[in-house]
Amino acid sequence: MAASIHGQWSSRWAFILAATGSAVGLGNIWRFPYMVGENGGGAFVLVYLVCVAVIGIPIMMAEVLLGRRGRMSPIQTMGALARIEGTSPSWSLIGWMGMLAGFLILSYYSVIAGWTVAYVFRSASGGLDLITKDGAGAMFGALVSDPEKLLAWHTIFMVMTVIVSARGVQHGLEKAVRFLMPALFILLLVLVGYAMNAGDFARGVEFMFHADFSKITAGAVLDAMGQAFFSLSLGMGAIMMYGSYLPQDSSISTTTATIALADTAVAVLAGLAIFPIVFAFGLEVNAGPSLIFQTLPIAFGQMPGGAFFGTLFFVLLVFAAWTSAISLLEPAVAWLVEKRGWTRIMAAAWAGIVAWALGIVTLLSFSSWDFSFHFFGSQKSNGLFTIFEILTNNIMLPLGGILIAVFAGWKMASAHTREELAIGNDFGYALWVTLTRFVAPALVFLIFLNLFGVLDWLLG
Ligand code: TRP
Repeated sequence: MAASIHGQWSSRWAFILAATGSAVGLGNIWRFPYMVGENGGGAFVLVYLVCVAVIGIPIMMAEVLLGRRGRMSPIQTMGALARIEGTSPSWSLIGWMGMLAGFLILSYYSVIAGWTVAYVFRSASGGLDLITKDGAGAMFGALVSDPEKLLAWHTIFMVMTVIVSARGVQHGLEKAVRFLMPALFILLLVLVGYAMNAGDFARGVEFMFHADFSKITAGAVLDAMGQAFFSLSLGMGAIMMYGSYLPQDSSISTTTATIALADTAVAVLAGLAIFPIVFAFGLEVNAGPSLIFQTLPIAFGQMPGGAFFGTLFFVLLVFAAWTSAISLLEPAVAWLVEKRGWTRIMAAAWAGIVAWALGIVTLLSFSSWDFSFHFFGSQKSNGLFTIFEILTNNIMLPLGGILIAVFAGWKMASAHTREELAIGNDFGYALWVTLTRFVAPALVFLIFLNLFGVLDWLLG
């Protein structure tokens, strides 16, 4: 099919960088470590890696494939492909649910990214120098209990997102990721180096890679799967959208594998940087969303040149979050341009305003609206923010993922998927078909059932 009306990546590498920019973000550096901490370490990491390999990668290939075949926003792409394949137009529901999930995720993503922006300044002004464990806790507490400040940072981040989004595919998105991704990777290596010297590295490694399955619950398995979807940006059409800008002659399987590998490497490195510090300084592994903001300031506060490295790190994290946030907005922006005929600027601005307003819910979830609740046997806090997280990452994204896999695996003619994937060998294609038709949807389904206790009841 011809290129998308919204433009096209200048090359295969541009796509890899942009999709990696989407995948690598707060999910890897902020969320992955605290999820590992809350769910007991190694066993969670192992389940996570399995989810990436057997659910994430095949579904990512399916998303890119659908996007490139449809060449439009997910809603329109799914409608058009359903027509071509002669099935129900309701498949465009994938696009609608994805757009909703995108708004919900971006609303809280921007608030957390706002914290990161705030820490750039705290670090640059020397505020982290020789900070103690209690000092770091107090600094974080003071930030999140000040809604006006949070609103300011959240607004700044959302405006940044809208600006790049308004500039369009090649000018906005591509330029931003080209240098920032490699820089972030190198700085993470520096942090891991610090953790090796100053942290309790052996204990950190043991915590992350020694799988103790007695700690794994149905909720933890669901969290691991949800985190895999979130971290790879799957299940809501962001990768489908980016796939629609992919030149026809680029291989989907090798690009996808590169993206998934880079994303996983960054998450593991982030864990290796953070847990040794957690143990060396006697911090709580299950501190939740505040984890990196309680640990990294201590590391930067103690290391030589810490103010410099700290500032650089938070700047790069802001950039990583930025390139992810743009992808959360992209399906909605493209749809508004296609369907409503708006300019990109109008579309980006209005989509940004909606997500910004929704963000107020998260902003208050850490102070006046904070409440605790029970979710399938575990105690959760931070009220509506946590409910948004569960609803999007643990429910909407995996559900979107199942639907994408079923559509690509069952509803599309295999001549079409085979042509689009253009995998040279038969084995490779057969593997993808098997994973997409059976393994991925069945696993997601089983994990849902497990959560509702149905498996225990059946087997018990
Ligand atoms: N993957 C990003 C991260 O890890 C977040 C993100 C960007 C995302 N686009 C997405 C999550 C689409 C789910 C769906 O920070």
